[in-house]
Amino acid sequence: MLADVREGLSARPRQIPSKYFYDERGSHLFDEITRLPEYYPTRSERALLEISAATIIGNTRPATLVELGAGNSDKTRLLLDEMLRSKARDITYIPVDVSAAFLESSAAQLRAEYPSLRTMAVAADFSAGFTLPPHPAPALHAFLGSTIGNFTPDAAVDLLKGVRARMDSADFFLLGVDLRKDPAVIERAYNDSRGITAAFNRNMLNVINDSLGADFDMLAFEHNAVYNTTEHRIEMRLISSVDQQVHIPEIGLIDFAAGDAILTELSYKYDSGQVAGMLAESGLVLRDWLTDDAGMFALSLALR
Ligand code: SAH
Ligand code: AVI
Repeated sequence: MLADVREGLSARPRQIPSKYFYDERGSHLFDEITRLPEYYPTRSERALLEISAATIIGNTRPATLVELGAGNSDKTRLLLDEMLRSKARDITYIPVDVSAAFLESSAAQLRAEYPSLRTMAVAADFSAGFTLPPHPAPALHAFLGSTIGNFTPDAAVDLLKGVRARMDSADFFLLGVDLRKDPAVIERAYNDSRGITAAFNRNMLNVINDSLGADFDMLAFEHNAVYNTTEHRIEMRLISSVDQQVHIPEIGLIDFAAGDAILTELSYKYDSGQVAGMLAESGLVLRDWLTDDAGMFALSLALR
């Protein structure tokens, strides 16, 4: 984190990787976001999974579900329920997430709810490369919630190459992506009326204060989220509302003028061609493309 923050704050534009939103508080705030009326992605993906989980599991017949950025594994239960229904043998679930404490409590909750499921939580940064524990084949590798959209297209392809490298020949990959739509609908999802997204955005400063002993004043930075129609992405920033200095012990004093911004997150929105292109570039072959009638969200199923 120290290297990322030092490099990110000396770069222009200033930027800090979005994985630093997620300490336990950040994970709970994201959870609240998923229940907001404005935040359509979670609801749309859940509705898609409700109608397609049986077909996805029927076509892929996995013994293991590996999930990147699992969070609270809420929607994942739709897949796990189908796996448990359709298989006599033991089912393994491997949630992977950087938010270690939240991951552990979600895993404990799952173990209580699904005593016959073997849950092996892996606390890891999936963008840095990690090894999966031994697990029964075949596996379904899932990356839901459009978290792929928080990576630039080049970084997303690197990530997908990593997924492919962890896949066996009979494994499948299920990817959830948010689709391009009316920019006003997208912007509303990132500027909710209760200010939960603003608190989530500012929590990054809290995480840096806690981890690096910095003295960011969370109230001196404003939440900002705008849709870039050329790049097809939300750009989320924290904007300094005053001239101020922030002290980060191992870095020193950092000057912010009123209006200076830190880019905290990109959230790309896709069309089917772009997803097919990213998968192909990563050595993956698109098998199925599932979307809702309104074209809000899509699930794609791929093979190596
Ligand atoms: N899949 C869930 C959660 C999405 S939120 C859903 O669809 O609702 C994004 C999740 O990815 C968070 O739980 C966050 O902690 C995790 N995450 C973000 N960047 C990560 C990284 N680099 N490595 C591992 N997990 C990451
Ligand atoms: C996790 N990720 C897909 C969310 C998104 O929509 O890009 C994170 C988020 N940021 C603001 N609201 C939600």
